[in-house]
Amino acid sequence: MPEISPAAHIHPSASLGAEVSVAAGALIGPGVVLGDGASVGAGSVVHAGVVLGAGCLVEELVVLGKRPRLRHGSSAAAVEPAALQLGAEVTVCCGAVVYAGAVVGAGSIIGDQAQVREGSRVGERSVVGRGSCVDFNAVVGDRVSIQTGVYVTSWAVVEDDVFLGPGVLMTNDDTMGRHPRGERLDAPVVRRAARVGGGVVLVPGVEVGEEAFVGAGAVVSRDVAAREVVLGVPARVRRRVDDAELIEHWRR
Ligand SMILES: CC(C)(COP(=O)(O)OP(=O)(O)OC[C@H]1O[C@@H](n2cnc3c(N)ncnc32)[C@H](O)[C@@H]1OP(=O)(O)O)[C@@H](O)C(=O)NCCC(=O)NCCS
Repeated sequence: MPEISPAAHIHPSASLGAEVSVAAGALIGPGVVLGDGASVGAGSVVHAGVVLGAGCLVEELVVLGKRPRLRHGSSAAAVEPAALQLGAEVTVCCGAVVYAGAVVGAGSIIGDQAQVREGSRVGERSVVGRGSCVDFNAVVGDRVSIQTGVYVTSWAVVEDDVFLGPGVLMTNDDTMGRHPRGERLDAPVVRRAARVGGGVVLVPGVEVGEEAFVGAGAVVSRDVAAREVVLGVPARVRRRVDDAELIEHWRR
């Protein structure tokens, strides 16, 4: 049985699957699609056109499909984004904001107060931790673990099975805004199954290779080759990742 609170506001053009639940104070906009078994918590706002796959769980005070508000001269594209799409069984936790034009793959979790911006992609079974930001046009792969308070800058690429420890900070602009309008930002790339420790800073354009390990607190100012272990400020190579530590032995 669907459980629709009389204190929810659902636009008549919204499409509700079987067994959906919408709590008090939730706003469901025009053209929204709630897949079978999806649930939307109290006070959450689902903007026009958002598509929630079957079994999605949206907690309280979440905003889905927010339009970007850009300052004059912003490097984010000022085009009308497509509708937000959440795959099956996605969980969006309290206070998170997921923008129009983003796509979140099946089984992923967006943590409390996290932000996922327009044009970004989060793959399947990934986690965006509490208060973390996946900025516009960033691409995050499958089974990626993004811990608390991480900044994935715009245009960054984070491949499958990557681990980003708490407070990882990526940057994408060596000029800090003093470049010609429209110039492409130079974001980091973190290759498959790399691990990046707490508080690490990745400067613009660096690449962290497959299965590399970046120790806590490092500032990565040069590319890190596959399986290198780097530590320090600036990060320097200390050793290589052992065979026993490779992801295939640890995938859960
Ligand atoms: C790199 C790490 C694994 C320690 O490796 P280790 O080989 O056990 O290092 P050791 O403790 O034996 O220390 C070896 C040397 O490296 C130094 N060192 C250790 N960790 C360091 C780091 N993160 N940055 C800089 N230097 C470091 C030590 O001070 C020591 O230096 P010394 O030989 O001059 O005394 C650990 O520091 C680390 O970064 N872990 C990641 C934790 C993390 O961010 N997890 C994320 C989720 S919580």
